[in-house]
Amino acid sequence: MKAQRTLPPTAAPIEWRDLLQGLLGLVRPSVTVDALKADFGRHFGVKHVWFVSSGKAALTIILRALHGLSGRRTVVMPGYTCFSVPSAVVRAGLSVRLCDVDPRTFNPDFSQLEKAADGDALCVLATHLLGIGVDVSRVRDLCRHHGVFVVEDVAQAFGGRLKERPFGTIGDAAFLSFGRGKNITCGSGGAILTNDDRIGEAIAREYAGLSEVSVAERLMNWLEVAVTQLLIHPSRYWFPAGLPFLRLGETKFYTDFPMARMDAVRAGLLRRWKERLSRSEASRVAHTAQMRRLLSEAPVQTIQPIEDAHSVYLRLPVLMRSKQEKESVCRLSLAQGLGVSAMYPSAIGQVAELSDTLANDPVPQSVLIAERLVTLPTHELVSDEDVKRICSTIIGHLRDPAAGPQSVSGRSQCCGAEVSSSS
Ligand SMILES: Cc1ncc(COP(=O)(O)O)c(C=O)c1O
Repeated sequence: MKAQRTLPPTAAPIEWRDLLQGLLGLVRPSVTVDALKADFGRHFGVKHVWFVSSGKAALTIILRALHGLSGRRTVVMPGYTCFSVPSAVVRAGLSVRLCDVDPRTFNPDFSQLEKAADGDALCVLATHLLGIGVDVSRVRDLCRHHGVFVVEDVAQAFGGRLKERPFGTIGDAAFLSFGRGKNITCGSGGAILTNDDRIGEAIAREYAGLSEVSVAERLMNWLEVAVTQLLIHPSRYWFPAGLPFLRLGETKFYTDFPMARMDAVRAGLLRRWKERLSRSEASRVAHTAQMRRLLSEAPVQTIQPIEDAHSVYLRLPVLMRSKQEKESVCRLSLAQGLGVSAMYPSAIGQVAELSDTLANDPVPQSVLIAERLVTLPTHELVSDEDVKRICSTIIGHLRDPAAGPQSVSGRSQCCGAEVSSSS
């Protein structure tokens, strides 16, 4: 463990005012949740909004509701995504079919999607992974003829837009996540959106069966949020990052997650979401532009987002040339506290717990993404100097892989711009 400036790979800072709003939720519970519902309804222009305990819980409820309407059981989802997504599908009692991901755009492989979204499929998950826009209208066109629903996974993409329509309003239903490390957070939480009355009624029935979170649990979550805020700052993050038992950033497949309504303390923590979201979005978009410019001539592949999408880049994805290169960049980042990290340890097809249930859907591009992807931090706690240091370290390493962390310090030429890699 080394006490040095250490960037978390992702962070959604909150202020003492937000913590206070969270506590106020204890004394006026229904006002807090109802106010948030009305606020989200107006912002997204949708008729139906619910707040629940997590994104996983939100997806499980949507899937149960859709299954109740159509009776079908197969959920088509990206071959590379968060393990929570298949966890929710299994929790809803349904089965997974994979569709490959185009590594240039992070959109689905549309030719494979056309085959997968047949008359057997319940729904397709259109996932705006890392805040990068998926062409949901095109997904809808493919699904419409087969009576297949489209569910937008906006867990990592709150604030993004497609042709000026917010992500989450183009499919039949959508969910958001307010988990740690998302665009904005309340510790853990999720929201469900739909404009469709029939789907809305089915979701309302599922929601009615959810329990409330106990007061002790509300306070525990509040405390965790407060402690996280304290430790997430780059001047202190070296401490939790050096404690392996915290398992920070670990991705797990598990189906026994809580299914509950969102409580008023969490809703209070989200009360100033608009200011926080616009601040978060501004820094993510600006850092991404700066990093893309600095890395433009490096031998790596950065994302080419689809036209018409305003992507919000929860982190910036960069594909290395090999698995070895990815691993060495991650090791270097760990040693220097750069916040550059891999995402999920494997494609969904390689999740051991799914081996009995998954059909043999080949998703080679998803496997390639899992092997080569590193993500660069874009959040508000990243400074301009950090951006330069991250890019020059990656470029220096790719030029001279044998060199250890020390040899990339100093100054290096980066794409015509002189970049300081010292902190
Ligand atoms: C793409 C994606 N979908 C769904 C989820 C589930 O959200 P939650 O963690 O709030 O359950 C996550 C969480 O990390 C995610 O990244």
